[in-house]
Amino acid sequence: MSAQTTAQLHHGAVEIDEPSGTVLLRTATWCYVLRVDFDEGTVRHVHWGAPLPLADAARLPVWAEHDDSFAGRSDGVEEYPVEGGARFGVPALEVRFADGSNPVEPGVEGWRIVRESHVAILQRDRSRPLAWELHYRVQPGGDMLERWTELTHTGQAGAQALLLRRSAAAHWPLPQRADWRLSSVHGGWSAENRLERCPPAVGETTLTSRRGHTGHHAAPWVMLDAAGAAEESGEVWAMALAAGGSWRLTVQRTAAGRVGVVASEGHEGVEIALPPGGRHITPVSVAVYSPDGFGAVSRAFHTYVRRHVLPHPDELRPILYNSWEATSFEVSEENQLALARRAADLGVELFVVDDGWFGTRDDDRSGLGDWTPHPRRFPRGLRPLADEVHRLGMAFGVWVEPEMVNADSDLYRAHPDWVVHLPDRSATELRHQLVLDFSRSEVTDWAYGWLCDLIGDHDVDFLKWDFNRSFTEAGAHAGGPDARSVYVEHARGLYRLLDRLRATFPRLRVEGCAGGGGRIDLGMLGRSDQVWTSDNTDAVDRLTIQHGFGQIHPAAVMSAWVTDSPNPLTGRAVPLAFRFHSAMAGVLGLGGDLTKWSARELSEAARLVAQYKDIRPVVQHGLQYRLLAPGQGSLTAVQYASADADRVVVFVWRPTASFGPGHPPLRLRALDVRGRYRDEDTGAVWTGQTLMGYGLPVPRLPAGDCASALVRLRRVG
Ligand code: DGJ
Repeated sequence: MSAQTTAQLHHGAVEIDEPSGTVLLRTATWCYVLRVDFDEGTVRHVHWGAPLPLADAARLPVWAEHDDSFAGRSDGVEEYPVEGGARFGVPALEVRFADGSNPVEPGVEGWRIVRESHVAILQRDRSRPLAWELHYRVQPGGDMLERWTELTHTGQAGAQALLLRRSAAAHWPLPQRADWRLSSVHGGWSAENRLERCPPAVGETTLTSRRGHTGHHAAPWVMLDAAGAAEESGEVWAMALAAGGSWRLTVQRTAAGRVGVVASEGHEGVEIALPPGGRHITPVSVAVYSPDGFGAVSRAFHTYVRRHVLPHPDELRPILYNSWEATSFEVSEENQLALARRAADLGVELFVVDDGWFGTRDDDRSGLGDWTPHPRRFPRGLRPLADEVHRLGMAFGVWVEPEMVNADSDLYRAHPDWVVHLPDRSATELRHQLVLDFSRSEVTDWAYGWLCDLIGDHDVDFLKWDFNRSFTEAGAHAGGPDARSVYVEHARGLYRLLDRLRATFPRLRVEGCAGGGGRIDLGMLGRSDQVWTSDNTDAVDRLTIQHGFGQIHPAAVMSAWVTDSPNPLTGRAVPLAFRFHSAMAGVLGLGGDLTKWSARELSEAARLVAQYKDIRPVVQHGLQYRLLAPGQGSLTAVQYASADADRVVVFVWRPTASFGPGHPPLRLRALDVRGRYRDEDTGAVWTGQTLMGYGLPVPRLPAGDCASALVRLRRVG
């Protein structure tokens, strides 16, 4: 609905006060205000936080630094600071024009209501051939603000290309507060998502990937709080970038006390060539503000990902079996059939054959690129296995790593030029493999061809799409003017391929993977149904990894397997129930050697698989409340509640036993105060008021290390 007065326009979430040049975007929780100044050619930030009436917002002053000859005029508050003029902060836009010069001199042309709740501000260089549109969008009923930028070379045909050296999706200025704290995750292979909170430096703090993929070592999102926030209270701002290639998030804290975040694809030195008439659309950066702590921000992201990012948000993810930890590269028709039969008996719904089924893939030294069944391991091809898996009532999934090639492969021998490389430099092999250049359409066309054959010939329902090394020697693209654009263009080629494949096979489902959690971001999630969280399947380590993962990403995409004990990576022995409870907090899978599990283990596993099917809608589609974070006491606990608060699931883990007083009750969240909740296993009935006010008594845990419990509550009466 649009209403209009002479001076004020309302288009869904967008409100505009024309005389003052004030643009306001509003959700139920916050409003975001900016001011367009046509004379100065600036778009400056005014407010992001508690909702305000437009009439007040239109009268608010724009912040400015002290006006001396060393100060930046609008540093810290421009919506899209460029390199040029009296600006000394982190630019969102850095350009090299055809004459080699850099300064951009912006003007503002106006705004455009693209559609309801979506406004674009049009800017243009005053004399050079570059225009850009700042897009702001709120999804209907949503609580997130999406921003991205569309840049156009406005020169005539025949003019020279210009180079985008940094073209951010957005600069996110934050309000003035006395103190700030930055939350982010860092890590490495098998140690992803370690959450850290610390004050941002006065200066610039850059989180980045220079790897050509999102990376295990940092993730493209940050949260900033006014240093007083807690899990369920306090002001928190959070922003993420939907970029699957290299990326940079720079948190800038100026000496004058402004904090902001510039979110862009590409790391320093990555340049994108824009030919005359060419248009570059940045990835989306999405952000939220909440006055209700980190938990509320996480839930806002979870809801956004589920509603607006995932291809099939309403589907429940199946319980899968994956062969990797059981059979490694030694897969064969015989051993996969044995595992598939055991898996089907346990209630598994999807059977996935991991690495080793193709080419001459006896180990990681050869075969990548030759995507036909391994002649010795699958002499009859994959069809008999696929048919039997389907006959057992499970869907059939296959591991692939389409972006990679071993030098020892027929593909590399035929197309050595397809890899990301520089002709006069050595080609560094990591895991004995090289990266295929997916920014080139002949390479993605080849991948599309064999993937169609594989999926079509075997009725493949599910691909585990892996990616096991970072980029090296990635230089100027095909002799073009752009430096290292493959660091971002590869990911764009990958997205095009995945989109094309999914359009051809609408029933195909995809699990994103990059040596565990090396490519988890909102761009990849737009083409995936779930992601493999980490190669670390130790159920205790997983609690920390999953805690960091869940800051932004919902449980509905967090693939987690129950594997053998002791864990092959850590050597830790963990009881089966704890392993299950850890994995049941996300998308449950099994990954152990089921042929070696005892009858007792198999029957307990079948019981827990059935229990997961019962709680799955609550875990995957409910709201998550982190009751006790890992490492902050003896217990870790997470609650999931259905949106209608009818069903509640609580997991409690105690990794290490210690002597001491009993743990206080767990104060649950978001229940019906007046409702009565029945514990489905013990029959005990509590009111919502008691469960939230006093708390749920901590369930009795088995003695010893690695004890855990699952509580299922249902509203009655
Ligand atoms: C890395 C993945 O994370 C593992 O799960 C497995 O698929 C291996 N690659 C196979 O090479």
